[in-house]
Amino acid sequence: MNIVTATPSDLPDIVSLLKAAALPVAGIERHVETALVARDAQQLLGCAAVEVYGQAGLLRSVAVEVEHRGEGLGERLTTAALELARRRGVRNIYLLTTTASHFFPRFGFTAIPRSELDPALAQSEELRGACPASALAMHASLSIARLDEVSVSD
Ligand SMILES: CC(C)(COP(=O)(O)OP(=O)(O)OC[C@H]1O[C@@H](n2cnc3c(N)ncnc32)[C@H](O)[C@@H]1OP(=O)(O)O)[C@@H](O)C(=O)NCCC(=O)NCCS
Repeated sequence: MNIVTATPSDLPDIVSLLKAAALPVAGIERHVETALVARDAQQLLGCAAVEVYGQAGLLRSVAVEVEHRGEGLGERLTTAALELARRRGVRNIYLLTTTASHFFPRFGFTAIPRSELDPALAQSEELRGACPASALAMHASLSIARLDEVSVSD
C-alpha cells in the first residue's frame, strides 16, 4: 500500500479517523500539505502529519484505522513523516502523546519535560490546549547525515 501526501480532499476522512482514535483535530487543516495518508480502494487506513516551524517540527495525528493496526502501517507512516520533516529542514522534532509513549522510542524519541519543547511550537494549536496537559512530550533529533546518506544511495 502506498503512502502519499495528503490533499485537501482527504481532510474529512483524516478528521474522522482522528476523532475515532480520540486524537485532537484542532489545526490539522493548516497542515494538510505536510500530512501523509494511506488508503485502500474503500477508505482511509492511516495518516500522520508534521507541523513545520523552521528547524522545529511537531509530529502529530499518527493514526491507523482500528481494524488495520498491528500490520506495520503506523511504523511506515511515522518513518515517512519523519523523512518528510527532515526534507523540509526540521532538525528537532517533538510530539505529545497520551496513548503511544511506548510506540515512539523505536524512531529515536525520548521523553522530555514539557518545558523543553522548542518555543517555536507555541504557534501550534495542538500545543495550545487541544492536547491534554497530561500528555507526555517527546523529542528526536533528525540528523542531516541521514539525508546525505539518502541522496547518495538514491
Ligand atoms: C499508535 C498507532 C498509530 C500504531 O499503529 P499500528 O499500525 O498499529 O503500528 P504498527 O503495526 O506499525 O506497530 C509497530 C510496532 O509498534 C507496536 N505498537 C503499536 N501501537 C503501540 C502503542 N500504542 N504503544 C506501544 N507500542 C505499540 C506494535 O506492537 C509493533 O511492535 P513490533 O514491531 O515489536 O511488533 C495506532 O495504534 C493508533 O492509531 N493508535 C491510536 C492513535 C494514537 O495513539 N496515535 C499516537 C499519538 S499521535
